[in-house]
Amino acid sequence: MIKQRKSEQRLQDLVIVGAGNHGDEIYNTVVAINSVQPTFNVVGFVDEHASPGPSRIDDVPVLGGLAHFNTLDPGRHMYVVAVGAPVTRKRIDSELSGRLGFPAAIVIHPSAVVGTKNNLGPGSYLGPAAVVTTNVTTGRHVHINMRASVANACVLENYASVHPGAVLLGHVHLEEGCQVGAGATIKYDKRVGEWAEVGLAAGVVHDVPAHTTVVGTPAKPLVRAEAIAHDASAAALRAVR
Ligand SMILES: CC(C)(COP(=O)(O)OP(=O)(O)OC[C@H]1O[C@@H](n2cnc3c(N)ncnc32)[C@H](O)[C@@H]1OP(=O)(O)O)[C@@H](O)C(=O)NCCC(=O)NCCS
Repeated sequence: MIKQRKSEQRLQDLVIVGAGNHGDEIYNTVVAINSVQPTFNVVGFVDEHASPGPSRIDDVPVLGGLAHFNTLDPGRHMYVVAVGAPVTRKRIDSELSGRLGFPAAIVIHPSAVVGTKNNLGPGSYLGPAAVVTTNVTTGRHVHINMRASVANACVLENYASVHPGAVLLGHVHLEEGCQVGAGATIKYDKRVGEWAEVGLAAGVVHDVPAHTTVVGTPAKPLVRAEAIAHDASAAALRAVR
């Protein structure tokens, strides 16, 4: 009995921030990790949109909103942000680590393939069957989702997201907060600017400027139908003047 208590004490208390789909995925990754090597004790979910009153996901309690961290101990509890939007991960990180001093956990699904000489930042999440080869550096709260692949010497700055099945060839650099859509491929040596978005299934062969959304192959800035319609009607107006 005493032995069992000792082994329980070695588990790292973890709070999952985000009780939506991504929260479910990360929770399931934690369950998979624990089935290989008991590592985390999931204390509960915290969600900014938690409805009042007790609720549970798979028997794990939803503890409340972010304010719940005021009742926890930064010396004992770690957290992982299970939220897809990089801008929200940044905000939560600055609140929980920046202001309150909680450390962020690295969560890696046991089926992920992680090579040597990688440097993964706090809060990094690698989903099922993600691949990170070698000499890869990730910043804070970088998410590499299921089946995404990140090759040699890529740099993924803080809050970048690589969505399911996307492929980053060697030496790709993702700046802060950018997102690579599901199934997109980025050619080696290319750079995606901060807070840019690469659409799903795109093929990026040139650098992507910051704050730009690109789609297609070769990927080009997204031009919306309403923008084309707006330009056409402006041109028609000019023509009749
Ligand atoms: C590119 C993207 C960011 C645009 O999102 P959005 O701003 O909401 O744009 P909309 O869905 O309103 O589409 C705008 C236009 O772009 C087109 N479009 C959207 N995504 C596209 C893509 N990946 N490739 C080509 N065209 C695309 C739409 O057909 C639409 O064209 P229209 O103006 O001629 O009708 C988004 O569609 C995308 O691909 N996101 C990746 C999401 C992802 O992988 N998530 C994984 C979650 S786990």
